Amino acid sequence: MIHRVRKPYIAGNWKMNLDRARSLDLIKTVKGRLGDGNDREVAFFVPSIYLADVSAVAQGSPLGVGGQNLWFEANGAFTGEVAPRMLREVGADRVLIGHSERRHVFHEPDEWMGKKVRAALDCDLLPIYCVGETLEERKGNRTDRVLKRHLETGFEKIRVEDAHRLTIAYEPVWAIGTGETATLEQIGQAHRAIRKWCVQRVGEEAANLMRVLYGGSVKADNAKEIMGVDGVDGLLVGGASLQADTFLPIIEYDLR
Ligand code: 13P
Repeated sequence: MIHRVRKPYIAGNWKMNLDRARSLDLIKTVKGRLGDGNDREVAFFVPSIYLADVSAVAQGSPLGVGGQNLWFEANGAFTGEVAPRMLREVGADRVLIGHSERRHVFHEPDEWMGKKVRAALDCDLLPIYCVGETLEERKGNRTDRVLKRHLETGFEKIRVEDAHRLTIAYEPVWAIGTGETATLEQIGQAHRAIRKWCVQRVGEEAANLMRVLYGGSVKADNAKEIMGVDGVDGLLVGGASLQADTFLPIIEYDLR
């Protein structure tokens, strides 16, 4: 049993999947299975159009509900975008920022990341800031450099006192939705590099409060061993978070 200093955080990212009825069913089932939330934190990142309904069902439980993206301005001529206060208004208490699909499919540049993380915190949304290299970057031995660049841009406007509200997710792009999980050694290495960077940036005491999650083809049968890697504080799950029978065993990774 590894000694944990931070509460495990298991998050499901639905991406652009499910429909309203199946979303609500899933929330009801997971809510019914969660205890008091003292020993683990569980959250879903939901398409913004379903947030109000999903958070109404989750209310009164420790289940967290978050948006998958935001724009950093409070209002204005930004067609198609969602402001942090809008996410709050429909019940979200957290948000994903810099997910690899935002970076690589929608070409969100590094320069937006610091403003997005700042805007989330200023609106009382807990960000999970995603970082991770592509296959090409890994093959070119550029993983550390890419992680550093993602961290530097995302933390641009971070103060030491913000650290306890920040979570980082290491998601190697080549392991997302591919069925290919990073090896435990690769995960350990990346998590060590991320934590070292955080300690340098905000100091050891504040960095100790920040959780670093792993994401990329997490399934019921690899969740436990990944959670056993030193420095992994939780999991960010895509495909396997879409059904109760695949997600519950991940939430309960240590209970089997
Ligand atoms: P998969 O678990 O489907 O690989 O997705 C990971 C992910 O992108 C979570 O944000």
